[in-house]
Amino acid sequence: MDSPDTPRPTPVSALVTSAAESGALMEAELREIFPKLPSFEWIVRGSETEGSIARIEPGMDFNTLAGMVEHHAPVFVRHLAPVQRVIPLMATEEDLTALRDAALEIGEQLDSAAVFSVQTRIVGEGQLPYRKVTVNETLSALLEAQTGAVMECRTPEQVVSVLCTPTRGYMGVSRTERNRSAWPGGKHRFRHEEGQVSRSEFKLLEAMNVFGMALPERGIALDMGAAPGGWTRVLRAHGLQVTAVDPADLDPRLREDRGIRHVRERLQDYLPHSRQRFHVIVNDMKMDARASVELMLRASRLLESGGLAVMTLKLPRAERPPHQLLALVRADLQRLTDAYTILEARHLYHNRHEVTVALTSCN
Ligand SMILES: C[S@@+](CC[C@H](N)C(=O)[O-])C[C@H]1O[C@@H](n2cnc3c(N)ncnc32)[C@H](O)[C@@H]1O
Repeated sequence: MDSPDTPRPTPVSALVTSAAESGALMEAELREIFPKLPSFEWIVRGSETEGSIARIEPGMDFNTLAGMVEHHAPVFVRHLAPVQRVIPLMATEEDLTALRDAALEIGEQLDSAAVFSVQTRIVGEGQLPYRKVTVNETLSALLEAQTGAVMECRTPEQVVSVLCTPTRGYMGVSRTERNRSAWPGGKHRFRHEEGQVSRSEFKLLEAMNVFGMALPERGIALDMGAAPGGWTRVLRAHGLQVTAVDPADLDPRLREDRGIRHVRERLQDYLPHSRQRFHVIVNDMKMDARASVELMLRASRLLESGGLAVMTLKLPRAERPPHQLLALVRADLQRLTDAYTILEARHLYHNRHEVTVALTSCN
């Protein structure tokens, strides 16, 4: 038990971020996790660039809050960040001075032995006379000089999260693993690669990165609904042989690759006669989620023990109340547990109308 002298961690508010269109789903999930949430204030909803961001105040310190969120594993909460300072802004150059002053105050919380990054988001960039990069550079230099901690924006161990609107700035420090994503607001960027076949490649790369999935270095993968072949290309780049099942054509650049076997069939026709065993199964089929789950269950007998699987669950297009949509997603996830253990299910930055699920074989 804490002694009376042990300082209690201070309750803070937090910024929660979802994809632009998933604000209501994120809110519903958070209200389940924190039934007595006294305050849920939208800062921006449906922004093409920043998504939907709200400020919540569940009356606890950030580590407890983040631990509870992690424990409940919400699908639509993409990013979390603490708010330890709220800074009045005026959308003038003077804001940079106010942000610097606030950074000097919260800089005391930085661990000098751990690398850090300043991650700035600006709502309505263009309306403010400064850019994210200016804020990042200004505050990083200041904090490096003040704390001795080294700035490392690729793999920071701790993050100073900054959100600027035309009237207010929000700032807080946290360990990166508490934020649900190492990227500002969960906007996980990849560079376009030479030879890239489709933008879908980013979905698989993001899943592997955010879920910390290490694909085996050798083995065979089944790509369900593979065309034009983006995921197949990613799996090949990881050294796996790929059986790519899709009635549609693969990109011509993949045709010469002898590590790819293209089976021009629908999965419904392929699965009953396949005897091949796979170390990895991926499924990005454009198909109603329930039907796709059923095919995934049928494919499970082909997955080696301890094998990994990744699938996208397409969300229904028709408008539905958030609780109904959450119930649908949860029913699909529940059904998958007949044959798999669910590692993670998240609406990732590169998902559009879908959720990515990481699975492993039950046996
Ligand atoms: C979104 S694309 C897949 C993109 C792919 N992951 C990539 O990175 O290039 C969906 C694919 O699912 C395939 N598909 C839909 N129904 C299918 C079925 N029953 N069997 C096999 N493939 C199917 C479509 O032909 C389409 O090529």
